[in-house]
Amino acid sequence: MVSYSIKTLILSLSVASLANVSLAATPPSVNGCSALAAKQGTNITYADVAQCYASIPFNMEAARATLESLTTFFDDYYVSRDPALSPRLTKPLQSDPVDIVAKLKKIGRTRYTSDREFHTDVYEAVESLHDGHAVYAPYCYVAYIFVQPISMYAPVINGKQELKVYKDNKGRGYEDCTVVKIDGKNGMAQVKKRASFLMNSKDPNVRLNEALASMAYKPKAGGFVVYPGQFAVRNLLPERATVRYELQCGGSKKVKKIVVEDEWVINPQMPWQFTDTESYIKNVCLAPADGADASAGSLRKRDLVSISSERHDEVYALNKRAFDVQAAAAAAPSPTVTSPLVASPTLPSAYPEAIKIATGNNTVFYQLKDRPTIGVIVFIAALIDFNDIDFTYQSLETLYQKGVTDIIIDVVSGDGGYANVGPDFAQFFFPNKGPLDKLIKMNLRVTPAIQQLSAKVFNSTDGGYSKMGNMFSLKGGGFYDSSRFFDFANNRLYTDNSLYTDTVTETRNGRKAMYTKMTAYKPTTHPANANLAKYPWTNNPSRLRIITDGRCLSACANVVYYLANQYKVPTYGIGGTKGQPLSKYQYAAAGAVRQEGFVEMFAFGNMTSPLKPTPYQAIVSVVVAEFFAPGSKVPLEFDGVRYATDYRMDYDPVNARSREAMWTQVAKAAWK
Ligand SMILES: *[C@@H]1O[C@H](CO)[C@@H](O)[C@H](O)[C@H]1NC(C)=O
Ligand SMILES: *[C@@H]1O[C@H](CO)[C@@H](O)[C@H](O)[C@H]1NC(C)=O
Ligand SMILES: *[C@@H]1O[C@H](CO)[C@@H](O)[C@H](O)[C@H]1NC(C)=O
Ligand SMILES: *[C@@H]1O[C@H](CO)[C@@H](O)[C@H](O)[C@H]1NC(C)=O
Repeated sequence: MVSYSIKTLILSLSVASLANVSLAATPPSVNGCSALAAKQGTNITYADVAQCYASIPFNMEAARATLESLTTFFDDYYVSRDPALSPRLTKPLQSDPVDIVAKLKKIGRTRYTSDREFHTDVYEAVESLHDGHAVYAPYCYVAYIFVQPISMYAPVINGKQELKVYKDNKGRGYEDCTVVKIDGKNGMAQVKKRASFLMNSKDPNVRLNEALASMAYKPKAGGFVVYPGQFAVRNLLPERATVRYELQCGGSKKVKKIVVEDEWVINPQMPWQFTDTESYIKNVCLAPADGADASAGSLRKRDLVSISSERHDEVYALNKRAFDVQAAAAAAPSPTVTSPLVASPTLPSAYPEAIKIATGNNTVFYQLKDRPTIGVIVFIAALIDFNDIDFTYQSLETLYQKGVTDIIIDVVSGDGGYANVGPDFAQFFFPNKGPLDKLIKMNLRVTPAIQQLSAKVFNSTDGGYSKMGNMFSLKGGGFYDSSRFFDFANNRLYTDNSLYTDTVTETRNGRKAMYTKMTAYKPTTHPANANLAKYPWTNNPSRLRIITDGRCLSACANVVYYLANQYKVPTYGIGGTKGQPLSKYQYAAAGAVRQEGFVEMFAFGNMTSPLKPTPYQAIVSVVVAEFFAPGSKVPLEFDGVRYATDYRMDYDPVNARSREAMWTQVAKAAWK
């Protein structure tokens, strides 16, 4: 045997001790990850990955430490710990109560022999919260991405909703064949079953949209590309090596039945270096001993960790990565990471491309060619900073100069970003409000450790603090520097640490926790812009519309909340199930933090973090701050009455493939 590092030694010791108590433990396969390593990232088969994962011996010590870390994070810091116990949410939300601490305890009592099963159970326990900010994703078992060549959607044709092929990446021409069965069972039921597991949203119809294909604007690709959806894209090892589809193709006259069984196209998420199971465990699974991220400096870090804790206060959902991998591949193929084929939608000729007026990093401006009074702002992400603010004002002026009178804001693929962007973005359309109108109330969980930290980091600005959109850098005291929050009692920012010392204890769903009093992010007011007064849409919600599929997440949710709930911009919801309501947005929470960011804040305060990072390197995050709509005692994340879109639209074979068609339909419904 080759020499062991200390960590792998501990690992083999724990396997040995396990063998003493459980004869069921199977000896790890000798060649486990070697075949996978030999593939060098191309032509990977399901068996290669399955065999590698199965060869990783159950690491009991790591399992114990994982549960300890997560229990601390979720029990003491997760602001939704107790609201998640709510027995009944108002539609369109519909989610079972989840006691995440009890679920982790139950996992702790279960005797595992498979390391993958243990980590998968933890992943799925956290996923069952249906809170995209709550994540446990160990690199060890999300190192490969699995993509089906067939992506699906659920258009409504002649009043009937059916599951159909959206795109067939193998070029067999199955587009718009009906998917009758998947793996021998009703196709739609299989997709809904998959959707029921997804972390995304407490609204089952938003999860359905997430499971199915859609198009999203990707700056790197310079246009709309296909996101195959989470039925077709998996982070975890799928249950089976293939998916079997029973299709019905052709029109009603001559229906042809076709059965296809497709393998997963498998791609590494990162150019990990390993040669066998031992080095896989060392380089992919285990966190490096010095605490540094092993992936740091690797050229495609973004693919796995789509947001860096230095720059952003919130994490993107894990699933967005699948998409980024594809979009990045479309724009610039990487020599080390092969990516699944990118389906480029065939644009129906009936809809000429809308005219692209301006392209920013977070917003893209269009004008409808055949209805030039209508402009469209595609909202890509909520990472709006000074550059984007100037860009957005300029682009609004351009729309006005070109004769635009009405604007559709398209958030169908809107991503998260800075938690406080909502009120910033609203000011482009609803200026001249007092700063307090722009605040949404929020609070944070508090513990004695946070109180100690907050005393040390008060007013510890980090340089980015004063920047609009970047006030919540985790540098400095991050969330726990009270000088960054608004003091409603004194009508100014906190001038002392009383946000964290003068706390309230609340009992929610029978459980007690300590919180701050209601506070808010630092109010920002854009510099006055004299042009705004002349725009027909300024302060006029009747000339604005939002189109959403409910997946607009996190800070994007905050943007839509402001525009729709505060300023009454009408919303159109597309997709989901015909005849059922659909949410405007998902996970509308005030602030999330990853474990590294959390540890960093305590390190800044020269304190030992109460949270020990997980022994496996992983994306681990929780929400620490929650928003409340005015007058509501229910956190916005759980406040179902604030979710449903005003109007519903269905996907059809044309609008699902052409944004111009979708925008034209919104325009027709809104302004005739
Ligand atoms: C991958 O498979 C394709 C098709 O079977 C083959 O042409 C190609 O040479 C293989 N690539 C490698 C690196 O094995
Ligand atoms: C987009 O980002 C780049 C790099 O950060 C920046 O230089 C540029 O000004 C930004 N463009 C706009 C329109 O904001
Ligand atoms: C915070 O620090 C700045 C200097 O960095 C100082 O001007 C300001 O008065 C301080 N604010 C409070 C509330 O202590
Ligand atoms: C942490 O310790 C360093 C070195 O002693 C000191 O310079 C710094 O001010 C301390 N930071 C805080 C927030 O107390």
